[in-house]
Amino acid sequence: MTTQSPQTKYLKDYLTPAYLVDQVELDFYLSPTATQVASTLALRLNPDRNGVIEPLVLDGEHLQLVAVEVDGVSLEPADYQCDDVSLTIPAPPAQLTVHIITRIDPLNNTALEGLYQSNGIFCTQCEPEGFRKITYYPDRPDVLAPFRVRIEGEPADCPVLLSNGNLVDQGVLDDGRHFACWEDPFPKPSYLFALVAGNLVCLEDHFITLSERRVLLQIFVEERNRNDCDFAMESLKKAMKWEEQVYGLEYDLDRYMIVAVDDFNMGAMENKGLNVFNSKYVLARPETATDNDYLGIEAVIAHEYFHNWTGNRVTCRDWFQLSLKEGLTVLRDQQFSADMQSAAVKRIDDVALLRQYQFPEDAGPMAHPVRPESYVEINNFYTTTIYNKGAEVIRMLETLLGRERFVEGVRLYLKRHDGQAATCEDFVAALEQAGEVDLTRFRRWYTQAGTPEVQVVCHYDCATQTFTLDCQQSCPATPGQPDKEPFHLPLVMGLLGHDGTDLALQLASDEAPGGTSRVLELTQSRQQFSFVGVQEQPVLSLLRGFSAPVRLTMEDRPEDLAFRMAYDSDPFNRWEAGQQLSVAELLQLYRQQLEGQLSTGLSQVFVDAWGVVLTDNEADESLLARMLQLPSEQYLADQLDEVDPQRIRAVREQALRHLLSVHREKLLQCYDRYSSAGEYSLNPVAVGRRRLVHGCLSLLMLEPDELLQDRCLRHYQQAGNMTDRLAAFAALVDCRQSPLRDQVKEDFYRQWKHYPLLLDKWFSTLASGRHENTFFEIERLLLHPDFTLSNPNRARSLLGAFAQNLAVFHRQDGNGYRLLTEQIRRLDKRNPQVAARMATPLTRWKRLEPQRRALLREELVALQQENLSRDLYEIVNKSLV
Ligand code: PHE
Ligand code: ZN
Repeated sequence: MTTQSPQTKYLKDYLTPAYLVDQVELDFYLSPTATQVASTLALRLNPDRNGVIEPLVLDGEHLQLVAVEVDGVSLEPADYQCDDVSLTIPAPPAQLTVHIITRIDPLNNTALEGLYQSNGIFCTQCEPEGFRKITYYPDRPDVLAPFRVRIEGEPADCPVLLSNGNLVDQGVLDDGRHFACWEDPFPKPSYLFALVAGNLVCLEDHFITLSERRVLLQIFVEERNRNDCDFAMESLKKAMKWEEQVYGLEYDLDRYMIVAVDDFNMGAMENKGLNVFNSKYVLARPETATDNDYLGIEAVIAHEYFHNWTGNRVTCRDWFQLSLKEGLTVLRDQQFSADMQSAAVKRIDDVALLRQYQFPEDAGPMAHPVRPESYVEINNFYTTTIYNKGAEVIRMLETLLGRERFVEGVRLYLKRHDGQAATCEDFVAALEQAGEVDLTRFRRWYTQAGTPEVQVVCHYDCATQTFTLDCQQSCPATPGQPDKEPFHLPLVMGLLGHDGTDLALQLASDEAPGGTSRVLELTQSRQQFSFVGVQEQPVLSLLRGFSAPVRLTMEDRPEDLAFRMAYDSDPFNRWEAGQQLSVAELLQLYRQQLEGQLSTGLSQVFVDAWGVVLTDNEADESLLARMLQLPSEQYLADQLDEVDPQRIRAVREQALRHLLSVHREKLLQCYDRYSSAGEYSLNPVAVGRRRLVHGCLSLLMLEPDELLQDRCLRHYQQAGNMTDRLAAFAALVDCRQSPLRDQVKEDFYRQWKHYPLLLDKWFSTLASGRHENTFFEIERLLLHPDFTLSNPNRARSLLGAFAQNLAVFHRQDGNGYRLLTEQIRRLDKRNPQVAARMATPLTRWKRLEPQRRALLREELVALQQENLSRDLYEIVNKSLV
């Protein structure tokens, strides 16, 4: 907790480290409340200081200092300074060995940073600044060193003792304790250090690399989870193979370990050779995990594995460069998943996610560039902008360079900076060179925040057979950045003829027509592109595959959108046309309601087009399932200046009921056609069918007669997998009047109360209920014996789901705001990082309608007066500016 207001750190203040570390030796003597850490550091003055001695400042927090020695001589308290955040030796020799003993308390470490216990398992989380909670150290990513680690513990509590790299020794001591020694030959920054010790079982497999080295693969879990690791292991092997095939990159150690723990602040962590995972991203079998869980596991396993090159072999110079490893690694895991599943659907899901979370962030008080210029608490910058927009930025580079040159560029970057701590600029420079392109303007993506807006007006001149696009771009102001320079935007496009086929494209500057899809490069605030030889009035398909993370406005006629929805050869744009059509329809209903006009309901064009999709027997089911989904409440809210979330829900529900009333029979047919049970499989067709079935079911269950309720109950009871079961459960939970509701609520709880990940789903499904009473249910669930703020997954399952349930969270009386604020207050005392993350929904007050805006602001102002963690302080303060 802070007493004075926390300091801001600036990128422009970056200085190289004063001392470098040549070798780290760590000796852990494990005990739940008093673990002793002995550290021996071989240090030397950074040669760039030209021999001018500087004080040696080591970071350290929440440590009990036991002893300090320099070159074998123990220091008296007068020889050093020690405060809350550091240990300073004022005038050390230019080369020295420091030996430090500290004591820490893993059992009472509720922040889950540094060394802590999860279900009795010792584990560490050091990124970004957690290592300083283990021992005094230059805890910054540009100090790289080889680590040797010795762990000593009780064999009964900790039969397994793990750290990074290779196991070089182990044994039993006279007093009955045992030890293991690990050596990681690759120099690494402290944030990649890991230690795990506990009672774990190990599942093993192996992988033969491109150069025929055998790598041992191990997944460590608690005994009860032993049978749930197969899918994670398969995903790991697929990721290893894929990275060899696509990037020509091999794993570099003889052993790759993954540990699953129940208490984890984030998804997973890429510690060198020893990943620590939130068990949510490891454990799966069909009865307990949904399709989305499976896809999440595949993606996160790959993500952490890919970090071995993009993050570990080449790391970040400072935390302002975080997107250097995260944006690039997200892009690579997206590419991997696209190759494993349906590429089109993967792209749609990624864009939907970007719009759901990143666009609002970029439009809100926490907006920041992909490479931020300043921060108060770095933990607050593990954002969707750094991760997902960062990935979009690199995806644009791929679009501009083409896959082949892009891969060449990434390889050049890795080769050039192997073993180093690099910057975003280093990455862009390597791509610029490999791609032989000028990325001067493109670099603005790293410095300017905000989502660019692109406006396009088209004109077809029948006499000259010329089709012209007039493009303009601008970008709204964001905190600290009132004015923006134009971005370099790749706009992938095509033209559709009247029969829906792609026309051959010829720009006025081309000699001959070539191809049916082009990348137009927009680099100025206004630019025109003219196509010649266009023999008919075409329909423009722009921003195919969402080739740039922008908001595009075109004056599309509804008929053109419906046409593209049916015929666009780019599946992303088929979906996008449908979304635009829906958004226009829903916003129209919203305005009618707001102005007290008589509702016209959905247009015939839209209702028909939707019905056509529903009965399309040819297209990929998973694409159809997405096309049938109306835009989310959050996405709709993002299109409005003054949001009334309850009105959004009402309007969306009105639209759903309209579609249901017209297409009920077709929905039933579709439900029947695909809801045949079979062996569970994750292939895209099976996943697509389930999604389609569940979409139909949830729509049908808006107006369920008894027959349908019964079917839904059977669907729930007879489900052979959790995807089916949970879909039916969610539908029944929304049946307020039905006695079945309490029945399944009870049943699900009884069946899964000993399985934490499913209990999480029970909480989140109940908290996602669409009915008004959901709020009171949430209040009761907070008192449920299985609810706890100590476990991040559990806290998120109830509070996160609640805050995303916009109409319930944004109750008119402000009680939703009060409830969340109160819980965040409590959470902040235990786990600031998670508290700050959960506070995000509170920061979006400016765009609400006046009454709610005032209520929410009041809560924030009250919070601001209190003694907050640095994490929460930054979020609350920035959102009130
Ligand atoms: N670096 C991790 C990842 O993306 C995320 C993480 C950040 C985990 C901070 C824990 C703490 O893969
Ligand atoms: Zn990552």
